[in-house]
Amino acid sequence: MPQVGQHVRNLLGVQSQVQLLEVLSDGSKVVEAVGQLRPDVVMIDLLLQGKVKGPELIEKLRGSGLDVPVVVLTVPQHPLVRDPDRGIDAVLTLPFSGFELVNTFSHVLADRQARTSSACRVVAVFSPKGGVGKTTIAFNLAVALSQLSVATALVDGSLQYGDLRSLLKVPSDVPSILDLPTDRVQESDLRDVLWRDPAGVDILLAPPRVEMAEMVTVRDVEKTVSLLRRLYEAIVIDTPTTLSEVTLALLDASDVILSIVTYDSTTIHNTVAVSEVFGSIGYGPEKLRYLVNRADSSGGIGRDELAKALGRRPDFEVVSDGRLVVQANNEGMPFVVSSPDAAVSRDIRRTAETLLGRTADAPVRH
Ligand SMILES: Nc1ncnc2c1ncn2[C@@H]1O[C@H](COP(=O)(O)OP(=O)(O)OP(=O)(O)O)[C@@H](O)[C@H]1O
Ligand SMILES: [Mg+2]
Repeated sequence: MPQVGQHVRNLLGVQSQVQLLEVLSDGSKVVEAVGQLRPDVVMIDLLLQGKVKGPELIEKLRGSGLDVPVVVLTVPQHPLVRDPDRGIDAVLTLPFSGFELVNTFSHVLADRQARTSSACRVVAVFSPKGGVGKTTIAFNLAVALSQLSVATALVDGSLQYGDLRSLLKVPSDVPSILDLPTDRVQESDLRDVLWRDPAGVDILLAPPRVEMAEMVTVRDVEKTVSLLRRLYEAIVIDTPTTLSEVTLALLDASDVILSIVTYDSTTIHNTVAVSEVFGSIGYGPEKLRYLVNRADSSGGIGRDELAKALGRRPDFEVVSDGRLVVQANNEGMPFVVSSPDAAVSRDIRRTAETLLGRTADAPVRH
């Protein structure tokens, strides 16, 4: 409605905080103009008429990938509810004052800032040695993160054997990373493919058969992780022992590599060897964290000896609990849920909190 444009023009004309860049009455020109002008906020009249009407324009702008907050203007006869997931960051009902308008803008911008700065943590659980507890820790860590009210996704990056699929006894016809379309992965596709575990974690499974792992490409991995980053606050990735191209792509896409060590000389040797590889491919020391699993089973190797071999003190320790862990795994249950007070569960929870930066007593880094 032309009156709406004029109303907004008048309101903004008498203040200096907001600069009006453009008023368009043709909805079909908006996406291009937003791409060029790069405004901080776009206002859309819900009752916009013409080829592209208000609701369609909101949808188009959201699908454009321009990532601009949208304030929708409406009238009392057409009430509308704010819904950021559908591209409606705020709603203003006519008539509104200049004060309300500017106030809404600053809320929308603050919201946006808060969302983008709470950077999503992507943690790859890795070890160059098999059987050290990667899958067990990845699963329980993901559940512990979601218990801390962090929206968490778990990715089964052990693509050949699909450790999580067997741990959780997920039927083989449940979709996997291979069911995502390869060219343009959309948020909606991703939600259809994820398996929702009762413990509150969304899981992207590995393919159901060993030979299908080869079909997953580096590009699939990159796209998937970047999309998950937009939907979740934390992503935990279980990885296989082999440093294949795809495993490296998973590690590249991660903020933190949680390297699992045990008091076992081969594990320690391989861990040191792989840390040199990480250094040479440009991963800084802050990307790598060490977690000692079964930390109370030292097998004659001293703590200092381990720290000396790694070149620093490990960041986390998780105790051994054969009975609980094996039983929980056999039942496909996270022990952090079934036995929250067990020492092993507390250790995982502390790891989750420290990774989120929520503990005051995070271990000192050397
Ligand atoms: N803290 C722990 N206390 C007792 N048992 C544990 C602990 N962590 C892992 N385990 C046991 O160790 C075994 C190996 O664990 P898991 O499968 O998680 O290792 P992994 O590193 O993922 O192995 P793979 O290399 O085959 O993928 C399992 O039987 C598991 O129950
Ligand atoms: Mg595993």
